[in-house]
Amino acid sequence: MKICRTIPEIRAAVADLRAAGSVGLVTTMGALHDGHMALVARAAKDHPSVVATIFVNPTQFGEAADLDAYPRTEDADIAMLRAAGVSAVFLPDVAAIYPDGAETIVETTRLARILHGGVRPGHFRGVATVVTKLFNIVQPDAAYFGEKDYQQLAVIRRMVTDLHVPIAIHGVPTVRAADGLALSSRNLRLAAEDRAAAPVLHRALTQGVQVLRDGGTAQEAEATIRSEVAREARAALEGLDIVAADTFIPLDGPATGPVGLMISARFGEVLLIDQKEITP
Ligand code: PAF
Repeated sequence: MKICRTIPEIRAAVADLRAAGSVGLVTTMGALHDGHMALVARAAKDHPSVVATIFVNPTQFGEAADLDAYPRTEDADIAMLRAAGVSAVFLPDVAAIYPDGAETIVETTRLARILHGGVRPGHFRGVATVVTKLFNIVQPDAAYFGEKDYQQLAVIRRMVTDLHVPIAIHGVPTVRAADGLALSSRNLRLAAEDRAAAPVLHRALTQGVQVLRDGGTAQEAEATIRSEVAREARAALEGLDIVAADTFIPLDGPATGPVGLMISARFGEVLLIDQKEITP
């Protein structure tokens, strides 16, 4: 596995890989877990070569404290990628991605500002900007993103469509621990009691899904989810959205097409998100 820290290095590595055929990309912020490895496995199934990136992107963090606290486990990450057969990993520094004087941003103007984007202003602009940069640097044939970051995936799909980016975008189902908690690099920061409490998100969403499947309304599903989360004292609910999957417009009444349910809650200092999509 080639370890590339500069743009010329990764470009040269990708040019060599192209001789063997197509290239799949998995972008990450490191602190890799089985959820990331599911993206790598899917990319490896589709392409002879997989490239991964590890870059903790400062522009998608609202609070400096959150950025500083983000786990960094580079040696372990490299070992996992190597074991999974990744061909090249790109680990740029901030100055390479945001050169002096950088002022260009990429923003999906509606999707980035609603729902989770309303609670975290600038977050999806930071994501779309860095993903565009990584796409332009690596120029893969396809890129793989977790469905857990449901709105992020929608933002990236929108951006790729709007900007005519010739890269296929694939969503990969959320990987969960045995107790249902969606795997996330942030789970590493949970206190033991909060880790024990956190599966409430999956439990609550599952109950909400059942309400919709039984023909209940979005309002009824929301009430069910809220009351399940309220039973867990360590969870502070931040966001709960039940939306039409194609538009992200809040659902009113029962589900008549694919629906996304998104939740975010704080456990101590740590903000966790989870998601489910159903087709009734
Ligand atoms: O999902 C993530 O890990 C990040 O938001 C991404 C897509 C790598 C952009 O920094």
